[in-house]
Amino acid sequence: VLDQSIRPQKLEEYIGQEKVKNNLQIFMEAAKMREECLDHVLFYGPPGLGKTTLSGIIATEMGVQMRTTSGPAIERPGDLAAILTALEPGDVLFIDEIHRLNRMVEEVLYPAMEDFCLDIVIGKGPTARSVRLDLPPFTLVGATTRAGMLSSPLRDRFGVLARLEYYTEKELAIIVKRTAEVFETEIEEGASLEIARRSRGTPRIANRLLRRVRDFAQVKGNGRITLQLAQSSLEELQVDRLGLDHIDHKLLYGMIEKYRGGPVGLDTISATIGEEPDTIEDVYEPYLLQIGFIQRTPRGRVVTPACYEHFNLEVPK
Ligand code: ADE
Repeated sequence: VLDQSIRPQKLEEYIGQEKVKNNLQIFMEAAKMREECLDHVLFYGPPGLGKTTLSGIIATEMGVQMRTTSGPAIERPGDLAAILTALEPGDVLFIDEIHRLNRMVEEVLYPAMEDFCLDIVIGKGPTARSVRLDLPPFTLVGATTRAGMLSSPLRDRFGVLARLEYYTEKELAIIVKRTAEVFETEIEEGASLEIARRSRGTPRIANRLLRRVRDFAQVKGNGRITLQLAQSSLEELQVDRLGLDHIDHKLLYGMIEKYRGGPVGLDTISATIGEEPDTIEDVYEPYLLQIGFIQRTPRGRVVTPACYEHFNLEVPK
């Protein structure tokens, strides 16, 4: 129950992503004025920035239900047909990890998105025939960490493309304060900022750190989250000043110690630290690139001087 209410339900409660928010506001209002459903929307960007939350907000603001599924969960065309035929007019269909839909399923999705219909084949061999089924109009909201991995026919069928960006510390501090209110936990201004600073620009991380710090406050203190308590708890959680955690450290130290800072290929890094290449690429690298600790070159990833300085290491010549 709590987990639900820390997600904002309305656009006006949603903090950050101003550009995306303002545009969505216009598109939703226009669709409502025309009594149509909103055009299909694709959200892309690193994990934890609010793709699912915004999809839920679209459904609430448009006054419809949201159905949720994911690319890997839809294995066959029939699975998708079952979902599409169960929609009510105007519903939001949220497909997470939409870049992982297979080709056959994608083919069924095209006419559904474009003309709200399904082409199904009945029978086999020479007597097989195609039947066209009408669907209720709906809004597809797709989410992906990498827009580049979507096939272009699929990408071209979205009318709204929205890239989510990392949040500023200020925005994250407001989100932390808001979540603390939902938890009915008292938190000092400085403590929300401290958690915000160490959340890698990501609300999901900020809210996770807040939960853990709240645990420390409850057990080690009197429940109130002070700056000092936040700092010592984050220390215990092995989250450093920039929000880099154990795995970020393993990744960077691996590159530095085993490969003299690179260039080193993704698969090599993956084998060295025992994390999936996809996870490294989608979850860990984007923030390290953003803060300028690694760079991508044609020959592989390299660690930058800024990273050496953060760890108080000498920059190799
Ligand atoms: N909780 C998680 N993300 C949020 C956001 N962008 N605004 C408000 N609350 C949030």
